[in-house]
Amino acid sequence: MNSKEFLKEHAVYQIYPISFCDSNGDGKGDLRGIISKLDYLKDLGIRILWLSPIYKSPMFDMGYDIADYRNINPIFGTMEDFDELLAEVNKRGMKLVMDLVVNHTSDQHPWFQEALKNPQSKYRDYYVFRKGRKDKKGNYTYPNNWTSNFTGPAWEKVPGEEGMYYLHIFSKQQPDLNWHNPAVLKEVEDIMAFWMDKGVYGFRCDVISEIYKESYEDGKKASPFAPVGVEHYVATQGNHEILQKIQKDVVEPRGGVLIGECGGPITTEDGKKYEENGELDTFFEFDIANLNPSLLSMKIPPKKLKEAIIRWQTEVDWNGNYLENHDQHRVFNRYVYGKDELMGAKMLLTLQYTLRGTPFIYQGQEFASHDYPKPLRIEECTDCVTKATYQIARGYHLPKKLSLRLAHRYGREDERAPMAFDNESPDFGFSSNPKAKPWQPYNPLSQKYNAKDALKNSQSVLSFFKKINALREEKQVFTYGSISFLESPEDVLVYTRETKEAKALVVLNLSNKKRKIPESLSYYKDKKLLLENYSEESKILRPYEALVFLL
Ligand code: NOJ
Repeated sequence: MNSKEFLKEHAVYQIYPISFCDSNGDGKGDLRGIISKLDYLKDLGIRILWLSPIYKSPMFDMGYDIADYRNINPIFGTMEDFDELLAEVNKRGMKLVMDLVVNHTSDQHPWFQEALKNPQSKYRDYYVFRKGRKDKKGNYTYPNNWTSNFTGPAWEKVPGEEGMYYLHIFSKQQPDLNWHNPAVLKEVEDIMAFWMDKGVYGFRCDVISEIYKESYEDGKKASPFAPVGVEHYVATQGNHEILQKIQKDVVEPRGGVLIGECGGPITTEDGKKYEENGELDTFFEFDIANLNPSLLSMKIPPKKLKEAIIRWQTEVDWNGNYLENHDQHRVFNRYVYGKDELMGAKMLLTLQYTLRGTPFIYQGQEFASHDYPKPLRIEECTDCVTKATYQIARGYHLPKKLSLRLAHRYGREDERAPMAFDNESPDFGFSSNPKAKPWQPYNPLSQKYNAKDALKNSQSVLSFFKKINALREEKQVFTYGSISFLESPEDVLVYTRETKEAKALVVLNLSNKKRKIPESLSYYKDKKLLLENYSEESKILRPYEALVFLL
């Protein structure tokens, strides 16, 4: 099997290192903690691991602000620990994907520090410095009207230089790199080669659709959820060309893969281009994650979910199928809720694993990790987005309670709670020191949702997860089969997967209501049932029922 097929045939499991497992008892997860859990992951059937950033970083945005691309953040360990982790991963027949954050660096990166200190230095052109415009009163103001993905203007004043600004489409601690400068591409290619030559399988490329700014003209507001200016930098021609070059120069010769995080949001047209030109081996789009109909609500109506899935599956060949990650709330309260929510979690796993594309699973998803039962107090929050959203809401004089609700809606605390390996100690098996103060509070729901309990229970989400992961590994029709959607009631999703050798049928009730089995489909009842989330037979589809048949 070649390296590109490996990513097609196996799911990816995302580790958020600071919250995964703490080996040295400081309340923060680390690399040796990950090593200690590799057998747990192997036993789940996982073959590809993706680590959120572990590079040296001031951690303003939890590592998505890199200060040194070739060194490990001491919080996580040393380069020796990393080498050992990689060797242990490979020894188990698994592969390791690193995060690559190259839209921006940290403002602490020596390149940026030098660029600030010495405007004549070559590093000045590694970033986007621009003179501001003058307002009616003759005062300098921002070079254009762009806003940042993290709220507020996308420009920050350069200290000590009148009227000079630098661009940051995320926080001001994350200055954007200038991808018009070939030296930046060369640096990034060297960094990638450095890690791949160690044996890293590939990269999950952070906001990769946004790196190449085509112009610095004023932007128009595209949608309530998109910052101003995106039309000048999302999925630009320059972006496509850079990715083709990186694949050709670095990734393909080393037998690796690129997984793109494509915010913006990108369209299915953009997605097609990324895959047709072999630029990205798979990618994450944001339509499905952003389906919630209002600013405060997180709930996604099943009908909308169905429409978006059909659109992406029909128009694009190979999606990165995810529902949770370190930026997205857990699926409960979003896609599934109510008394049958655990059936819902199994149904969603069935969806992720039987759609065409690579399934991406986020740590804890395998045993139904939930958001915190009630929002953390603002003083307990660690995420820069949570804090910025709260401050802005308060700045508009919104009441504290509403500000906190908004902050939690857009903030990223819930999904970053420490992992729960058991419920036998106050740290839920996260730390070697049960008394250590975790970097973020433990989730009391871990008492109920943790790996150890779930492993013992044959009806748990985790037991189901193991089955569906194994099913996809065993039956190639779920990897290589074409997909066709069949007529079905509005919140029921029915599709076939088909290769020359085999055909499978998937029936998913996306709603928490009973639904009739479509008449046209009753023929499948005497076919071989490969997997179901309920155990006894029924004449109707029960809430969140999932059925997978071999035809
Ligand atoms: C996407 C990452 O997933 C997120 O955590 C980060 O804050 C932004 N990119 C900026 O790097």
